[in-house]
Amino acid sequence: MSSTPPEPVLIFDSGVGGLSIHAALTARLPGLPLVYACDNAAFPYGPWPQAELVERVHTVLDALIARYQPQLVVVACNTASTVALPRLRQDFKVPFVGVVPAIKPAARLSRNRIIGLLATPGTVSRPYTDQLIADFAADCTVVRLGSTTLVEWAETKLRGRPVDLNALRQLLAPLFAHERGPVDTVVLGCTHFPLLVEELQAATPEPVLWVDSGNAIARRVETLLGKPVDNRPVAARAVFTARHDDVEELRPALAQRGFGIIEFLPV
Ligand code: DGL
Repeated sequence: MSSTPPEPVLIFDSGVGGLSIHAALTARLPGLPLVYACDNAAFPYGPWPQAELVERVHTVLDALIARYQPQLVVVACNTASTVALPRLRQDFKVPFVGVVPAIKPAARLSRNRIIGLLATPGTVSRPYTDQLIADFAADCTVVRLGSTTLVEWAETKLRGRPVDLNALRQLLAPLFAHERGPVDTVVLGCTHFPLLVEELQAATPEPVLWVDSGNAIARRVETLLGKPVDNRPVAARAVFTARHDDVEELRPALAQRGFGIIEFLPV
């Protein structure tokens, strides 16, 4: 096993979704030493009951923090962030940045005040999400669409297989069938979904604004690090919690994003 870069930023998700956050981070802070961790042993998080998910995320981050000694952790997963952040911040010293649905910017951008929230079944039904909507989109109609299928399709795409656009069209139909009218803005409230943005665009009956949290997270990380980042790109590493066969299929997508090292930390 090669040595870990000094004080990396740890990006954590159940699967490949956090790579959308990784893209925003590396665009803003190209020299940042990074470790990308996938809890593929417990993927997908969307259907997990809340209390069990908090325990699982805590256990995995405990192992990851011990192994990689990060200077900061990005919980690049809305499903985990909307329930686990208070416990993580209480139990670990390292600072955490969480990703939650971008309801606030979407409400600012929507012209017809009809917004879609595309996220996992867990995220669309969380009290945290209800509160975000009450605080920032009280004057909007929010059409919530929870989907694990879409998460699976993002995983499949990164393994080199195409997404079925007809099936995607059907899946998205409820966003355009609300009695008040079609959505004009959609929150991508799962980090897997920006990885599908071309397919989403191709499958919608009319143009919509897709809003995600990537750039806001990159700005937040930059603010918290409080020091200039070396501009040389560094070989990042990707770590998985299970040695599943399909990890190999991710190698090209990971290499394209600068991940030269793949390793396993069974949890
Ligand atoms: N990428 C994740 C999110 O942002 C979780 C997907 C899943 O494991 O269900 O919610």
